[in-house]
Amino acid sequence: MAIKLCNHVSPHSEKMIKPTFPSTVQLNQNQKSQIESAADILLKGGVVAFPTETVYGLGADATNPDAVRKIYAIKQRPSDHPLILHISDIGQLDYWALDIPESARVLAKRFWPGPLTLILKRSRHVPGCVTGGQETVGIRIPAHPVALALLKALGPNKAVAAPSANLYGKISPTSAVHVRTALADEVDMILDGGACEVGLESTIVSFGQKTVTVLRPGGIAVSDIEAALNCPVRLIQKHEPAICVSGTLPVHYAPSTPLKMLSQAELSEVVLQYVEQGFKISVITWSGMDLLLPRVSNIRHILMPPDPIQYGRQLYAVLHQCDQLGLGYILMEAPPNKPDWLAISDRLQRASHAHL
Ligand code: TXA
Ligand code: MG
Repeated sequence: MAIKLCNHVSPHSEKMIKPTFPSTVQLNQNQKSQIESAADILLKGGVVAFPTETVYGLGADATNPDAVRKIYAIKQRPSDHPLILHISDIGQLDYWALDIPESARVLAKRFWPGPLTLILKRSRHVPGCVTGGQETVGIRIPAHPVALALLKALGPNKAVAAPSANLYGKISPTSAVHVRTALADEVDMILDGGACEVGLESTIVSFGQKTVTVLRPGGIAVSDIEAALNCPVRLIQKHEPAICVSGTLPVHYAPSTPLKMLSQAELSEVVLQYVEQGFKISVITWSGMDLLLPRVSNIRHILMPPDPIQYGRQLYAVLHQCDQLGLGYILMEAPPNKPDWLAISDRLQRASHAHL
């Protein structure tokens, strides 16, 4: 076996992770005119990919069923998987939803604009194709100046229905380049808002008679939701037959390259095994563990930040990058089993499910 230095890469310093649009930034004239064009395209029934603080969305005018159907076709997503309705003003909540529980209002006031989606009873203004035929609708106000300006430009009583701007089951895009690579020919416009600050999808919450349930962990921590409501919330269990939440399917958010999540103890051993078998691999760690990597050229080691916020911000960008390298495997150190890491563990479990 040839002995060479393996390629240690830290994504910390890379430009791609620096958000171009912190929430306070003013939009310049060029950005404003692009947003106006995008709004015009949406109002004419087109499809626009746009940045949010979580991931990029694939948007259409929610009140135009033909436009909404284009999203399902582009994404190759089953038509019974509901889309999230994006709005810009909390005052519009009662236009789109009915019988809103007090706890939902508390969460909306506390976390919007932000990475939180509320599942509520839909009003007659929400077409059935947005909700995959369900009587509930997922609603959120994104915290990204481009998304908010786009939504405002559409005018009153309009909303954008949008899933993440990736093909069904694949990793969500956290930069305009990711969208361009996967969907450039399919969409009418891609608005570039820089890298997404959160980098993981929104937390999805539903409301029962007595319980509040997190259907998908995400950008808002479960503990923050509990603190806002001053009561415990339930986390949906893997075996529960979920309402059609595609993000809760066992295999989802998956790169094309096989991905394995391994304990520290397993990692060095599996790396050696694959290298001996001649695979080109990426090894992604966060703990600074002492990895016994053979010094060969076909291993790329990526050291992720040990902090879940920063790790989450970079995760999809790193996986997209790995997917471009023609690797045999992506081997990931399992994240810590701690509440702050829940959304990350959830995504990695789904990404690795087919390769356990
Ligand atoms: O951060 C996000 O949520 C991003 C950005 C673009 O807003 N959107 C996103 O959309 O992740 P999508 O479609 O990739 O994932 C939304 C999830 C899906 O799993 C969908 O099934 C679920 O939300 N969902 C939407 N409406 C629902 C409803 N009425 N009941 C249950 N789940 C719903
Ligand atoms: Mg998605």
